[in-house]
Amino acid sequence: MSYSCWFQCFNGCCDDRYSIYDVIYRCPKCDGLLEVTHDVEALKDKSAQEWKDLFDARAGGNQHPYGSGVWAYKEWVIPTIDDENVVSTYEGNSNLYFARSYGEKIGLKDLWVKQCGNSHTGSFKDLGMTVLVSVVNQMMQAGDSPVQAVAAASTGDTSAALAAYAAAANIPSVVFLPDNKVSAAQLIQPTANGAHVLALDTDFDGCMDIVKQVTQDNSIYLANSMNSLRIEGQKTVGLEIVRQFNWEVPDWIIIPVGNLGNISALYKGLKLMMDLGLIDRMPRLVAAQAEHANPFYQSYQNNFADKSTMTAKATQASAIRIGNPVSYDKAVVAVQKTNGLVEQANEQELADAAALGDLAGMYNCPHTGVALAVLNKLVDNGTIKSDDRVVVISTAHGLKFTSFKTGYHAASLPEVESNLPNPAVQLAADADVVKEKLSSLLSS
Ligand SMILES: Cc1ncc(COP(=O)(O)O)c(C=O)c1O
Ligand SMILES: [Zn+2]
Repeated sequence: MSYSCWFQCFNGCCDDRYSIYDVIYRCPKCDGLLEVTHDVEALKDKSAQEWKDLFDARAGGNQHPYGSGVWAYKEWVIPTIDDENVVSTYEGNSNLYFARSYGEKIGLKDLWVKQCGNSHTGSFKDLGMTVLVSVVNQMMQAGDSPVQAVAAASTGDTSAALAAYAAAANIPSVVFLPDNKVSAAQLIQPTANGAHVLALDTDFDGCMDIVKQVTQDNSIYLANSMNSLRIEGQKTVGLEIVRQFNWEVPDWIIIPVGNLGNISALYKGLKLMMDLGLIDRMPRLVAAQAEHANPFYQSYQNNFADKSTMTAKATQASAIRIGNPVSYDKAVVAVQKTNGLVEQANEQELADAAALGDLAGMYNCPHTGVALAVLNKLVDNGTIKSDDRVVVISTAHGLKFTSFKTGYHAASLPEVESNLPNPAVQLAADADVVKEKLSSLLSS
């Protein structure tokens, strides 16, 4: 059976189809977002059980590229790509673990954390970037494409992923970062991978405006999530979570959001599972925003009557400091169709939630702190019940955000009173002094 996919207008203004190997990002008729559309009827040639067995057999194995947590689902992602053109680091396959200790702290019996930061470049962005760079690779290998380089605006993690995958494929990359607004670890990643790193005196939304202009010339290919190829890869996180629960659906999935590509992708993957009969209900999706960058929360408060935009303020959750989210229309559908909701966390709440999680053995990035703070609120106000099965998506590795951690434990973060500080104790190198100190520390 031959499977196929194409770009089509997300708004449904027309039935026009565009090849995924064309350089096109928005609907030429209405300027809406495009989405990758699959021939779902063709995919019905296998039963739900046959798909499950196939995916179970592939994921985590070593057969290129099917061992990847994205390409295990190749027929559902980009069926037409040649295996040899796939650029993969065997992304995905990240651990989904039972967070018993944190759950006990907040009164939840069935809490799980999906560690998307345990990935090649330290964030969930790898899931989408393997797809985008693989498609570009196939275009360039065909020899008739205008594309010479890939480019993205980024709050840090997208550029790290783009630079790594582009380097692996030997494709030049350009990244636009808001100067002084990404962590040192995020800045050094694309630098090390040989990207052209352009630090602009603006914020993420300003970088996004520039990259859109630069990529109007088809020689530079836009790698932001406005490009729906990214969503195709990121949607596998939903498939992977359900597969890790032996194809059972959790009650809730909480995810920190900025540009809103991630929650749109999560929904898209789950929806395809519904359409093909692998699951028979949807989890409720919760979008977690930082209060300083909360346009989606504001829109939700307004029943999504209008898209709110803002100039996002500084937040420790710097990767979601986005005021004009590109995938707004898709994310509204994700929340509405899953009976989901949007909640926010302020700087104090996100920092304390991250620290409380760390004390339960996690090592949270500030965005995961936002998701945990939102979880705490929803448990406290009774929206989430104590025996609901909940998944929190941890989107990046805490090691990328060292200054957030050191600032918290040194009690120097703005707007944050460090309620759980644990600064290092400096002592003389004297066994008696050390013993005395230990006895007081361990008895308290
Ligand atoms: C660590 C982290 N968490 C969450 C997000 C939010 O993802 P999205 O912008 O697709 O909503 C991003 C990227 O923006 C990120 O880097
Ligand atoms: Zn359209």
